[in-house]
Amino acid sequence: MPEPAAVPTGLADEVPATVPDGDRHEHAEQQLGTTGVAYRAVGGAEAAAANLAWWDADADDYQAAHGDFLGDADFVWCPEGVREAEARLLGDVRGKRVLEVGCGQAACSRWLASAGAAAVATDLSAGMLRHAREGNERTGVAVPLVQANAEVLPFASGSFDAACSAFGALPFVPSIETVFAEVRRVLRPGSPWVFSVTHPMRWIFPDDPGPQGLTVTQPYFDRTPYLEVDEAGEATYVEYHRTLGDYVRALAGTGFTLEDLVEPEWPAGHTRTWGQWSPLRGKLFPGTAIFRTRLA
Ligand SMILES: C[S@@+](CC[C@H](N)C(=O)[O-])C[C@H]1O[C@@H](n2cnc3c(N)ncnc32)[C@H](O)[C@@H]1O
Repeated sequence: MPEPAAVPTGLADEVPATVPDGDRHEHAEQQLGTTGVAYRAVGGAEAAAANLAWWDADADDYQAAHGDFLGDADFVWCPEGVREAEARLLGDVRGKRVLEVGCGQAACSRWLASAGAAAVATDLSAGMLRHAREGNERTGVAVPLVQANAEVLPFASGSFDAACSAFGALPFVPSIETVFAEVRRVLRPGSPWVFSVTHPMRWIFPDDPGPQGLTVTQPYFDRTPYLEVDEAGEATYVEYHRTLGDYVRALAGTGFTLEDLVEPEWPAGHTRTWGQWSPLRGKLFPGTAIFRTRLA
Protein backbone atom coordinates (compact mmCIF):
# COMPACT_ATOMS: atom_id res chain seq x y z
CA MET A 1 0.00 0.00 0.00
CA PRO A 2 1.71 3.29 -1.05
CA GLU A 3 1.99 6.08 1.49
CA PRO A 4 -0.58 8.85 0.90
CA ALA A 5 1.08 11.78 -0.87
CA ALA A 6 2.00 14.70 1.35
CA VAL A 7 0.25 18.04 0.83
CA PRO A 8 2.66 20.99 0.88
CA THR A 9 2.41 23.26 3.91
CA GLY A 10 -0.37 25.84 3.65
CA LEU A 11 -2.23 24.05 0.85
CA ALA A 12 -4.33 21.55 2.84
CA ASP A 13 -7.50 23.61 2.17
CA GLU A 14 -6.97 23.29 -1.58
CA VAL A 15 -7.25 19.50 -1.77
CA PRO A 16 -10.24 18.61 -3.99
CA ALA A 17 -12.67 16.21 -2.33
CA THR A 18 -13.33 14.09 -5.42
CA VAL A 19 -12.82 14.08 -9.17
CA PRO A 20 -15.82 16.07 -10.51
CA ASP A 21 -18.54 13.87 -12.07
CA GLY A 22 -18.20 15.25 -15.57
CA ASP A 23 -14.48 14.55 -15.61
CA ARG A 24 -14.84 10.81 -15.10
CA HIS A 25 -15.69 10.09 -18.75
CA GLU A 26 -17.67 6.99 -17.75
CA HIS A 27 -20.09 7.13 -20.69
CA ALA A 28 -17.33 7.40 -23.28
CA GLU A 29 -15.34 4.63 -21.63
CA GLN A 30 -18.37 2.32 -21.53
CA GLN A 31 -19.37 3.11 -25.10
CA LEU A 32 -15.84 2.55 -26.43
CA GLY A 33 -15.06 -0.47 -24.22
CA THR A 34 -12.07 1.15 -22.52
CA THR A 35 -10.46 -1.29 -20.09
CA GLY A 36 -7.02 0.13 -19.38
CA VAL A 37 -4.18 2.49 -20.22
CA ALA A 38 -0.94 1.95 -22.11
CA TYR A 39 2.11 3.83 -23.32
CA ARG A 40 3.13 2.79 -26.83
CA ALA A 41 3.82 4.12 -30.32
CA VAL A 42 0.62 4.74 -32.28
CA GLY A 43 0.17 5.57 -35.95
CA GLY A 44 -1.79 8.52 -37.30
CA ALA A 45 -4.71 6.46 -38.61
CA GLU A 46 -5.26 4.64 -35.30
CA ALA A 47 -4.94 7.92 -33.37
CA ALA A 48 -7.39 9.77 -35.65
CA ALA A 49 -9.97 6.96 -35.47
CA ALA A 50 -9.66 6.71 -31.68
CA ASN A 51 -9.93 10.45 -31.14
CA LEU A 52 -12.86 10.90 -33.49
CA ALA A 53 -14.73 8.14 -31.63
CA TRP A 54 -13.64 9.50 -28.23
CA TRP A 55 -14.73 13.09 -28.79
CA ASP A 56 -18.03 11.98 -30.31
CA ALA A 57 -18.67 9.71 -27.31
CA ASP A 58 -17.57 12.30 -24.71
CA ALA A 59 -19.15 15.39 -26.29
CA ASP A 60 -22.30 15.50 -24.15
CA ASP A 61 -20.40 14.93 -20.88
CA TYR A 62 -17.73 17.50 -21.86
CA GLN A 63 -20.37 20.12 -22.52
CA ALA A 64 -22.30 19.22 -19.35
CA ALA A 65 -19.14 19.45 -17.24
CA HIS A 66 -17.52 22.55 -18.75
CA GLY A 67 -20.19 24.38 -20.76
CA ASP A 68 -21.08 26.85 -18.00
CA PHE A 69 -17.39 27.71 -17.38
CA LEU A 70 -16.68 28.16 -21.09
CA GLY A 71 -19.83 30.19 -21.76
CA ASP A 72 -21.79 30.43 -24.99
CA ALA A 73 -19.91 33.30 -26.61
CA ASP A 74 -16.81 33.69 -24.50
CA PHE A 75 -13.14 33.02 -25.30
CA VAL A 76 -11.58 31.16 -22.37
CA TRP A 77 -8.04 29.99 -23.10
CA CYS A 78 -7.62 27.51 -20.25
CA PRO A 79 -8.88 26.10 -16.93
CA GLU A 80 -7.06 28.99 -15.17
CA GLY A 81 -9.72 31.23 -16.76
CA VAL A 82 -7.60 33.51 -18.98
CA ARG A 83 -10.02 35.30 -21.31
CA GLU A 84 -9.18 36.76 -24.70
CA ALA A 85 -11.33 39.78 -23.79
CA GLU A 86 -8.59 40.78 -21.31
CA ALA A 87 -5.49 39.02 -22.65
CA ARG A 88 -5.85 40.17 -26.29
CA LEU A 89 -3.31 37.59 -27.45
CA LEU A 90 -4.71 37.71 -31.00
CA GLY A 91 -4.61 41.50 -31.14
CA ASP A 92 -7.42 43.49 -32.72
CA VAL A 93 -9.65 41.01 -34.57
CA ARG A 94 -12.17 43.47 -35.99
CA GLY A 95 -12.69 42.86 -39.68
CA LYS A 96 -10.25 39.91 -39.68
CA ARG A 97 -10.91 36.39 -40.94
CA VAL A 98 -10.05 34.15 -37.99
CA LEU A 99 -9.73 30.35 -38.06
CA GLU A 100 -10.40 28.35 -34.89
CA VAL A 101 -8.85 24.87 -34.81
CA GLY A 102 -10.46 22.18 -32.60
CA CYS A 103 -13.31 24.51 -31.63
CA GLY A 104 -15.47 22.09 -29.61
CA GLN A 105 -18.70 23.93 -28.88
CA ALA A 106 -17.25 27.02 -30.67
CA ALA A 107 -17.74 29.53 -27.84
CA CYS A 108 -14.40 31.14 -28.79
CA SER A 109 -15.49 31.67 -32.39
CA ARG A 110 -18.78 33.21 -31.26
CA TRP A 111 -16.83 35.59 -29.00
CA LEU A 112 -14.59 36.47 -31.96
CA ALA A 113 -17.66 37.11 -34.12
CA SER A 114 -19.11 39.33 -31.39
CA ALA A 115 -15.80 41.22 -31.37
CA GLY A 116 -16.15 41.95 -35.08
CA ALA A 117 -14.18 39.09 -36.66
CA ALA A 118 -15.32 36.78 -39.43
CA ALA A 119 -14.63 33.60 -37.49
CA VAL A 120 -14.71 30.06 -38.92
CA ALA A 121 -14.89 27.22 -36.37
CA THR A 122 -13.46 23.78 -37.23
CA ASP A 123 -13.41 20.49 -35.34
CA LEU A 124 -12.86 16.81 -36.09
CA SER A 125 -15.86 15.63 -34.08
CA ALA A 126 -19.46 15.80 -35.26
CA GLY A 127 -20.51 15.28 -31.62
CA MET A 128 -18.68 18.43 -30.53
CA LEU A 129 -19.96 20.33 -33.58
CA ARG A 130 -23.54 19.37 -32.63
CA HIS A 131 -23.01 21.39 -29.44
CA ALA A 132 -21.49 24.17 -31.54
CA ARG A 133 -24.64 24.27 -33.69
CA GLU A 134 -26.82 24.37 -30.58
CA GLY A 135 -24.68 27.25 -29.28
CA ASN A 136 -25.19 29.09 -32.55
CA GLU A 137 -28.95 28.64 -32.27
CA ARG A 138 -29.06 29.60 -28.56
CA THR A 139 -27.08 32.80 -29.03
CA GLY A 140 -28.15 33.84 -32.51
CA VAL A 141 -24.42 34.26 -33.30
CA ALA A 142 -24.17 31.81 -36.20
CA VAL A 143 -20.50 31.20 -36.92
CA PRO A 144 -19.71 28.86 -39.83
CA LEU A 145 -18.94 25.34 -38.55
CA VAL A 146 -16.70 23.02 -40.56
CA GLN A 147 -15.92 19.40 -39.76
CA ALA A 148 -12.21 19.04 -40.47
CA ASN A 149 -9.08 17.36 -39.22
CA ALA A 150 -6.53 20.03 -38.29
CA GLU A 151 -3.95 18.05 -40.30
CA VAL A 152 -5.82 18.71 -43.57
CA LEU A 153 -7.61 22.06 -43.45
CA PRO A 154 -10.19 22.44 -46.23
CA PHE A 155 -9.43 26.10 -46.97
CA ALA A 156 -7.63 28.02 -49.67
CA SER A 157 -4.05 29.11 -49.09
CA GLY A 158 -3.67 32.58 -47.58
CA SER A 159 -7.35 32.86 -46.71
CA PHE A 160 -7.11 33.83 -42.99
CA ASP A 161 -5.67 36.77 -41.02
CA ALA A 162 -5.34 34.92 -37.70
CA ALA A 163 -5.65 31.40 -36.26
CA CYS A 164 -6.25 30.14 -32.74
CA SER A 165 -6.87 27.02 -30.74
CA ALA A 166 -7.82 26.56 -27.09
CA PHE A 167 -6.70 23.02 -26.27
CA GLY A 168 -8.02 21.88 -29.67
CA ALA A 169 -6.48 19.17 -31.85
CA LEU A 170 -2.76 19.60 -31.02
CA PRO A 171 -2.55 17.18 -28.06
CA PHE A 172 -4.25 14.50 -30.18
CA VAL A 173 -2.26 14.52 -33.43
CA PRO A 174 0.98 12.58 -34.01
CA SER A 175 2.68 15.51 -35.78
CA ILE A 176 2.29 19.12 -34.63
CA GLU A 177 4.55 20.03 -37.55
CA THR A 178 1.80 18.84 -39.94
CA VAL A 179 -0.81 21.04 -38.22
CA PHE A 180 1.54 24.05 -38.02
CA ALA A 181 2.34 23.66 -41.74
CA GLU A 182 -1.38 23.57 -42.57
CA VAL A 183 -2.03 26.65 -40.41
CA ARG A 184 0.90 28.38 -42.15
CA ARG A 185 -0.58 27.51 -45.55
CA VAL A 186 -4.01 29.02 -44.83
CA LEU A 187 -2.65 32.16 -43.10
CA ARG A 188 -1.51 35.35 -44.78
CA PRO A 189 2.09 36.39 -43.97
CA GLY A 190 2.39 38.31 -40.68
CA SER A 191 -0.72 36.69 -39.16
CA PRO A 192 -0.87 35.56 -35.52
CA TRP A 193 -1.23 31.86 -34.58
CA VAL A 194 -2.04 31.51 -30.90
CA PHE A 195 -2.77 28.21 -29.18
CA SER A 196 -3.06 26.82 -25.66
CA VAL A 197 -2.05 23.30 -24.62
CA THR A 198 -1.45 21.43 -21.39
CA HIS A 199 1.86 22.72 -20.03
CA PRO A 200 4.47 20.09 -21.01
CA MET A 201 5.74 19.79 -17.44
CA ARG A 202 2.37 18.29 -16.38
CA TRP A 203 3.30 15.13 -18.29
CA ILE A 204 5.58 13.98 -15.48
CA PHE A 205 2.73 13.82 -12.93
CA PRO A 206 -0.33 11.53 -12.80
CA ASP A 207 -3.53 13.17 -14.10
CA ASP A 208 -4.86 13.70 -10.59
CA PRO A 209 -6.05 17.03 -9.18
CA GLY A 210 -5.25 15.98 -5.61
CA PRO A 211 -2.10 15.14 -3.65
CA GLN A 212 -1.42 12.04 -5.77
CA GLY A 213 -0.88 14.46 -8.65
CA LEU A 214 2.14 16.00 -6.93
CA THR A 215 4.52 13.06 -7.27
CA VAL A 216 6.61 12.59 -10.41
CA THR A 217 5.94 9.23 -12.08
CA GLN A 218 6.82 9.80 -15.74
CA PRO A 219 10.02 11.05 -17.44
CA TYR A 220 9.62 14.47 -19.08
CA PHE A 221 11.77 13.34 -22.01
CA ASP A 222 9.72 10.23 -22.80
CA ARG A 223 7.47 11.12 -25.75
CA THR A 224 5.76 7.72 -25.89
CA PRO A 225 2.04 8.57 -26.32
CA TYR A 226 -0.52 7.93 -23.57
CA LEU A 227 -3.31 5.60 -24.70
CA GLU A 228 -6.52 4.28 -23.29
CA VAL A 229 -7.25 0.88 -24.78
CA ASP A 230 -10.02 -1.70 -25.12
CA GLU A 231 -9.78 -5.39 -24.30
CA ALA A 232 -8.02 -6.11 -27.60
CA GLY A 233 -5.41 -3.42 -26.89
CA GLU A 234 -6.81 -1.08 -29.58
CA ALA A 235 -6.62 2.63 -28.78
CA THR A 236 -9.85 4.30 -27.58
CA TYR A 237 -8.07 7.58 -26.71
CA VAL A 238 -4.62 8.91 -27.61
CA GLU A 239 -2.71 11.88 -26.25
CA TYR A 240 0.77 12.97 -27.31
CA HIS A 241 3.48 14.66 -25.27
CA ARG A 242 5.94 17.25 -26.51
CA THR A 243 8.55 19.08 -24.51
CA LEU A 244 8.72 22.88 -24.56
CA GLY A 245 11.73 22.57 -26.88
CA ASP A 246 9.71 20.36 -29.25
CA TYR A 247 7.09 23.13 -29.62
CA VAL A 248 9.71 25.82 -30.16
CA ARG A 249 11.55 23.77 -32.79
CA ALA A 250 8.31 22.83 -34.60
CA LEU A 251 7.25 26.49 -34.71
CA ALA A 252 10.64 27.67 -35.94
CA GLY A 253 10.73 24.85 -38.50
CA THR A 254 7.37 25.84 -39.96
CA GLY A 255 8.03 29.57 -40.21
CA PHE A 256 6.45 30.92 -37.01
CA THR A 257 8.14 33.39 -34.69
CA LEU A 258 7.46 32.81 -30.99
CA GLU A 259 6.47 36.17 -29.47
CA ASP A 260 5.40 35.03 -26.01
CA LEU A 261 4.88 31.92 -23.96
CA VAL A 262 2.15 32.65 -21.41
CA GLU A 263 2.11 30.42 -18.31
CA PRO A 264 -1.05 31.53 -16.50
CA GLU A 265 -0.89 31.56 -12.72
CA TRP A 266 -3.75 30.10 -10.74
CA PRO A 267 -5.93 33.09 -9.78
CA ALA A 268 -6.66 33.79 -6.12
CA GLY A 269 -10.17 32.63 -5.22
CA HIS A 270 -10.51 30.38 -8.29
CA THR A 271 -11.78 27.12 -6.80
CA ARG A 272 -12.96 25.22 -9.85
CA THR A 273 -11.33 21.87 -10.57
CA TRP A 274 -11.15 20.70 -14.20
CA GLY A 275 -9.78 17.18 -14.64
CA GLN A 276 -6.21 17.36 -13.35
CA TRP A 277 -6.32 21.19 -13.01
CA SER A 278 -6.96 22.24 -9.42
CA PRO A 279 -6.10 25.07 -7.04
CA LEU A 280 -3.75 22.70 -5.19
CA ARG A 281 -1.61 21.98 -8.24
CA GLY A 282 -2.14 25.37 -9.87
CA LYS A 283 -0.50 27.14 -6.94
CA LEU A 284 2.62 24.97 -7.31
CA PHE A 285 3.32 24.67 -11.04
CA PRO A 286 1.85 25.75 -14.39
CA GLY A 287 -0.98 23.78 -15.98
CA THR A 288 -1.27 25.59 -19.29
CA ALA A 289 1.11 26.97 -21.90
CA ILE A 290 -0.23 29.54 -24.37
CA PHE A 291 2.04 30.06 -27.38
CA ARG A 292 1.64 33.45 -29.05
CA THR A 293 3.33 33.19 -32.43
CA ARG A 294 3.29 34.98 -35.78
CA LEU A 295 3.87 33.83 -39.31
CA ALA A 296 7.08 35.44 -40.45
C1 LIG B 1 -10.28 19.74 -25.11
S1 LIG B 1 -11.38 19.98 -26.47
C2 LIG B 1 -11.25 21.74 -26.65
C3 LIG B 1 -12.47 22.32 -27.26
C4 LIG B 1 -12.64 23.82 -27.11
N1 LIG B 1 -11.58 24.53 -27.79
C5 LIG B 1 -12.70 24.17 -25.65
O1 LIG B 1 -11.89 24.99 -25.19
O2 LIG B 1 -13.56 23.62 -24.97
C6 LIG B 1 -10.43 19.35 -27.83
C7 LIG B 1 -11.14 19.46 -29.15
O3 LIG B 1 -10.20 19.11 -30.19
C8 LIG B 1 -10.92 18.36 -31.16
N2 LIG B 1 -9.95 17.55 -31.94
C9 LIG B 1 -9.29 16.44 -31.56
N3 LIG B 1 -8.47 16.02 -32.55
C10 LIG B 1 -8.67 16.87 -33.59
C11 LIG B 1 -8.11 16.97 -34.90
N4 LIG B 1 -7.20 16.09 -35.34
N5 LIG B 1 -8.52 17.98 -35.70
C12 LIG B 1 -9.44 18.88 -35.27
N6 LIG B 1 -10.00 18.85 -34.04
C13 LIG B 1 -9.61 17.86 -33.20
C14 LIG B 1 -11.90 17.53 -30.35
O4 LIG B 1 -12.95 17.03 -31.14
C15 LIG B 1 -12.34 18.53 -29.29
O5 LIG B 1 -13.47 19.25 -29.68
